[in-house]
Amino acid sequence: MNLLQIMQNRRSVRNYTGEKIPKEKLDKILQAGLLSASGRNKKPWEFVVVQEKETLEKLSHCRVGAAKMLKNAGCAILVFANPDKTDVWVEDCSIAMSNMHLMADSLGLGSCWIQGRLREAENGESTEAYCRTLLSVPNEYVLEAILSIGILEEHPKAHTLEELERGKIHYEAY
Ligand SMILES: Cc1cc2nc3c(=O)[nH]c(=O)nc-3n(C[C@H](O)[C@H](O)[C@H](O)COP(=O)(O)O)c2cc1C
Repeated sequence: MNLLQIMQNRRSVRNYTGEKIPKEKLDKILQAGLLSASGRNKKPWEFVVVQEKETLEKLSHCRVGAAKMLKNAGCAILVFANPDKTDVWVEDCSIAMSNMHLMADSLGLGSCWIQGRLREAENGESTEAYCRTLLSVPNEYVLEAILSIGILEEHPKAHTLEELERGKIHYEAY
């Protein structure tokens, strides 16, 4: 598949078998994250990889209704950042998330972006505070997002080029 086809095929997948993610595939996903571009090459991210079932179950409560898929995931990658390193940590971490999501899909795995920043856990804490306590993350780090990864039950249909909103493109001037 060429890059455009990989992008068309990338979908948010929330149903997993519960099986573990093969180590070679997980390594490639993490490499894709570490290869990401970042402003002034500051690389403000820290990736916390969770594979233990019990911790994944606890993590599934980190959002109100939006992180339930973590219960059956094979893995979660939490992207934290040190905002003192750069004022564009949100952009930097978003690129890392996006690259890992694409890589997971291209390897035949299901994955989904779970928003962490500005969101709440089921117990009323911020998602960030909930995850920080659960995973012993030092106070200077803030949470961007979580990538859930799992062995697919079924892959949704690829996006088609015909469905693209070409009206969002404005040439020369708006
Ligand atoms: C910034 C961002 C936040 C998202 N947050 C969540 C989330 O918390 N939970 C979830 O299930 N999906 C989440 N998604 C996935 C979107 O719902 C999904 O990308 C969108 O519906 C388009 O579907 P597709 O990814 O299959 O093309 C998020 C995606 C992005 C980019």
